Amino acid sequence: MGVSSLSRTLFSLAFTLSTFKFAEGGSPAVHSPVAYYLGGPASINGLEPYKGGHVKLDASSPVLTFDYGAEVGGFPFVEVASVSGDAAQIEIKYSEPFDGLANPMSDGPYEFVNGLMNSFRTETFNISKTGRTESFFIQGGQRWQSITLLTNCSLTLSGVGFRPSNTIKPVDSLPGAFNASDAKYHPVWSLGARSVQAACLEPGTQPSTWEVTSDGAFIRGQYPAQSALGKDFGNYTLTFSTKVVRGGTGWKVAGAMSTSYGPYFLLTSNGPTYANTNSTLMPKNTLVAGFGFTFVNQTILESGPVRYYDLPSSLTISDDEWYRVTTAINSTGYLISVNDTQVAFVDSAFNVPHILSGWGINDTTDGTFSFGPYLDQAAYVKDVEVKAQNGSVIYTNSMTTNEVYKEYSIATNDRKVCLDGAKRDRVVWIGDFSHTGRILAASSGRFDYVESMIELEFDWQYPPGPAYGLVPIQSFMGAGAKYREAFYPSQFGEDDYQHFFLLVLTDYYKLTNDKALLSKHWNGTKLLVQTLTNRYVDPVSGLLARPGSFWFTAQGFQNATAPTALFAVGLNQLAEVATQLNDSATADSYTSLSAKLASAINHQLWSDELGAYALCLDGLNETSLLANAFSIRAGIANTTQATRGIQKLSDLFYKIGYKDSSAIPNGNTTQLSPNIQGFLLESLFLAHTQLNVSADVVVPVIKDLLDFYWPKMVNQNQYSTGCPWEYVYPDGSPGIGIFTSLCHPWGGAPTYIFNDFVLGVRRELDQKSNSYQWVFDPVWEIVEGLGLEWANGRAPIFGGGHIEAEWRFDKGAKGKNKKPNMKAKVVGNKDIHVHVKNYHG
Ligand SMILES: *[C@@H]1O[C@H](CO)[C@@H](O)[C@H](O)[C@H]1NC(C)=O
Ligand SMILES: *[C@@H]1O[C@H](CO)[C@@H](O)[C@H](O)[C@H]1NC(C)=O
Ligand SMILES: *[C@@H]1O[C@H](CO)[C@@H](O)[C@H](O)[C@H]1NC(C)=O
Ligand SMILES: *[C@@H]1O[C@H](CO)[C@@H](O)[C@H](O)[C@H]1NC(C)=O
Ligand SMILES: *[C@@H]1O[C@H](CO)[C@@H](O)[C@H](O)[C@H]1NC(C)=O
Ligand SMILES: *[C@@H]1O[C@H](CO)[C@@H](O)[C@H](O)[C@H]1NC(C)=O
Ligand SMILES: *[C@@H]1O[C@H](CO)[C@@H](O)[C@H](O)[C@H]1NC(C)=O
Ligand SMILES: *[C@@H]1O[C@H](CO)[C@@H](O)[C@H](O)[C@H]1NC(C)=O
Ligand SMILES: *[C@@H]1O[C@H](CO)[C@@H](O)[C@H](O)[C@H]1NC(C)=O
Ligand SMILES: *[C@@H]1O[C@H](CO)[C@@H](O)[C@H](O)[C@H]1NC(C)=O
Ligand SMILES: *[C@@H]1O[C@H](CO)[C@@H](O)[C@H](O)[C@H]1NC(C)=O
Ligand SMILES: *[C@@H]1O[C@H](CO)[C@@H](O)[C@H](O)[C@H]1NC(C)=O
Repeated sequence: MGVSSLSRTLFSLAFTLSTFKFAEGGSPAVHSPVAYYLGGPASINGLEPYKGGHVKLDASSPVLTFDYGAEVGGFPFVEVASVSGDAAQIEIKYSEPFDGLANPMSDGPYEFVNGLMNSFRTETFNISKTGRTESFFIQGGQRWQSITLLTNCSLTLSGVGFRPSNTIKPVDSLPGAFNASDAKYHPVWSLGARSVQAACLEPGTQPSTWEVTSDGAFIRGQYPAQSALGKDFGNYTLTFSTKVVRGGTGWKVAGAMSTSYGPYFLLTSNGPTYANTNSTLMPKNTLVAGFGFTFVNQTILESGPVRYYDLPSSLTISDDEWYRVTTAINSTGYLISVNDTQVAFVDSAFNVPHILSGWGINDTTDGTFSFGPYLDQAAYVKDVEVKAQNGSVIYTNSMTTNEVYKEYSIATNDRKVCLDGAKRDRVVWIGDFSHTGRILAASSGRFDYVESMIELEFDWQYPPGPAYGLVPIQSFMGAGAKYREAFYPSQFGEDDYQHFFLLVLTDYYKLTNDKALLSKHWNGTKLLVQTLTNRYVDPVSGLLARPGSFWFTAQGFQNATAPTALFAVGLNQLAEVATQLNDSATADSYTSLSAKLASAINHQLWSDELGAYALCLDGLNETSLLANAFSIRAGIANTTQATRGIQKLSDLFYKIGYKDSSAIPNGNTTQLSPNIQGFLLESLFLAHTQLNVSADVVVPVIKDLLDFYWPKMVNQNQYSTGCPWEYVYPDGSPGIGIFTSLCHPWGGAPTYIFNDFVLGVRRELDQKSNSYQWVFDPVWEIVEGLGLEWANGRAPIFGGGHIEAEWRFDKGAKGKNKKPNMKAKVVGNKDIHVHVKNYHG
């Protein structure tokens, strides 16, 4: 039987704990491999421990495979002890899953946005001297690496690794910790704890991928980065000077903001290229014309076919020579000239069937321009000029000043940020952060990252104009806030990500009581809520809907339960903050708006027939996971509704986990999302603690998630990275194939759920003092349902220190003697008390 948390007595206890070991683990100076294989292609079972020392690559043993044991990131390097002949060429591949190494492009490329990283997962080095050769580019995340000798010579390596660009400490040395009598749980807790270290970055650690010089921008092969100033240009003529350093030079026109999706051109030179250059894809001295993201297809990023144009016989593109390249857009195509010699007219009708308008453009003439050569190429770009159709000059840029970096969104990161994933997209997706922020709090204790993300959102909050008050949902860490208007609508869409930010803000407040930060942004917060209300609450249905909106939590559907209930969760939490900031008028208005949303949902979207909250008005017979999860969390559901909704979830279980809704068909490529199931997991605990839903109802679902689904991300060696994944297929493999991010904090909810509800150390509103305080209050009926005998761990405290806690049932005790021994202690913070609540088994 459940006991409401409100009826429990609070009392403080200060136990002493003696047995905790807290290793102050430093981060390694370099990430080194733990195992290797020398010979041909590796088999995952044939690796040997790597202890350093010399390894020789030659014709008989041309491939080296390295396993780093878990996700690492940074600047890849090799230490060369000797090289025979003038130079040796080696191709290095990086991959999260082991099977990436078998692909020509490994688990890449990541040609979606320029994320201050190497857009490619293979790179080639021409090594002529001993000592260290380090990549210019960061590889954000991988467990695996291979090094293949391409030329007929020998090369002896004395070292290999990654120079970290962020800190990844051993999980057991973090201020937060969790362990329990079920051995499956600690590795699952650790997933989130590693991922927030791999995906959160200190300021100044992710250098620009361009080098602006007095001779223009030097751009190595990478995904083209676009000018924020070209957003509204169309039918223009782009002219620039360029000098190839290796392979070729590349640019796009009429492309989308953010993704630079659009027509992509390369001029390849007749100079030397590496031995592994694909001469079918990249013939020399040629105009190469692609469309979309890039010149190869990558899983969900599809690009149009590539066309090739010979250069006129009078024109040769040589390395180290300047050329003036012109691209004139008209309604039928792109006329490309070099030094006033016409090279080709590339017709645009060919591209039209390949335009996927979801990526940001739906015509062939309009949109910004960008620069970026292809794999292993490098070129300078300077003296850019854009002329409008009427001949007037609308843009000039020598490309020699530091302002280039922010205009093209490739500036060195100037603040602490958490990205969606370590390897990709490396974009600040604020919706993902509603899990990430809480994982940080429960593991690394890096509340400063949450604070920095909140500052970022308000710096970028849209000024008076079409999106007045909205915050960005997918900022680039290299972009400048002064250009924010160029990113509307591209980065102010996916509309419920705005609502997730309300959770980020209020969850942060709950963890910290940081009135200063919330007060500083209280006007911005109120403006955001006002905008979300005016813009998205449909006057007829009272639910969230707006033509053209995309609701992530409802697979795009309008008038849906989940986004509406999510808004209610945010408003409920904000009303508490408003009260604590002594703004009772705002508190009342948020409480009343939340009640209206609740009533709109209960009247229109609770389906007695279905026995659950329905997906949306147009899907009244469809069950949705988040419709029920968020209705529980928002307190919209009563006990009966919550119970029935949870029982109905069995409709959504497919092979190993729960799919988002019954509107999604079953199949081997159905994505099972750890992000969505993470929200469900918390709601199951809340259903029990706040709505008295019986443990018998919630425990089987929790067991599905924690005992069966999440361990798939731990116990498959060929895929595991020590981090949670972006998606999972029903067979337990990564859920977008090779492209899946295998280090995605959004999948790591169990890290904070274990701390909050199983260890039982969490923040709760103390009615007496009307402030958030620490409680030690495991959800006994659920932990007993999970069969646990003990749990221990640490919860980091905002402002310093941590709480150590442990509970344990006496061995063999049964019935009313089965009472846990509970100990909790605050370490390193004199201002904090923990209220240990009575056992009520
Ligand atoms: C470019 O021309 C097309 C017609 O070909 C027109 O629809 C479009 O509005 C023009 N773009 C701009 C920015 O003028
Ligand atoms: C590789 O380095 C050697 C020695 O410096 C040089 O002669 C050769 O041109 C380089 N090859 C490429 C493709 O850069
Ligand atoms: C080289 O490029 C061609 C054309 O895109 C492609 O069909 C082929 O698979 C590529 N080869 C390798 C080894 O990637
Ligand atoms: C990508 O796939 C589509 C559909 O199969 C095909 O039309 C197109 O040519 C491919 N693009 C590239 C760059 O290979
Ligand atoms: C192309 O034009 C540039 C001036 O824009 C000039 O410096 C260069 O020499 C020209 N190249 C050739 C090969 O004519
Ligand atoms: C676009 O430019 C090409 C090349 O100059 C020309 O042949 C074509 O007629 C132009 N299209 C239109 C609609 O003006
Ligand atoms: C596509 O075109 C329509 C108008 O035809 C416009 O409203 C919409 O914003 C465009 N979409 C994009 C992504 O540019
Ligand atoms: C917030 O808004 C109020 C009322 O418009 C104004 O008086 C106050 O200065 C604002 N505070 C901040 C911090 O911007
Ligand atoms: C939402 O539902 C209301 C009431 O049925 C309807 O009037 C409105 O058009 C819907 N909005 C959208 C965007 O579908
Ligand atoms: C829901 O109703 C639609 C038509 O109204 C139907 O096509 C669909 O199969 C139904 N789904 C379920 C799960 O019954
Ligand atoms: C819970 O909600 C359902 C559906 O609106 C209603 O039928 C039931 O009476 C409610 N139960 C309680 C205890 O309020
Ligand atoms: C799904 O099944 C199809 C047909 O059997 C197969 O071709 C495909 O590779 C499978 N995909 C996955 C991800 O298992």
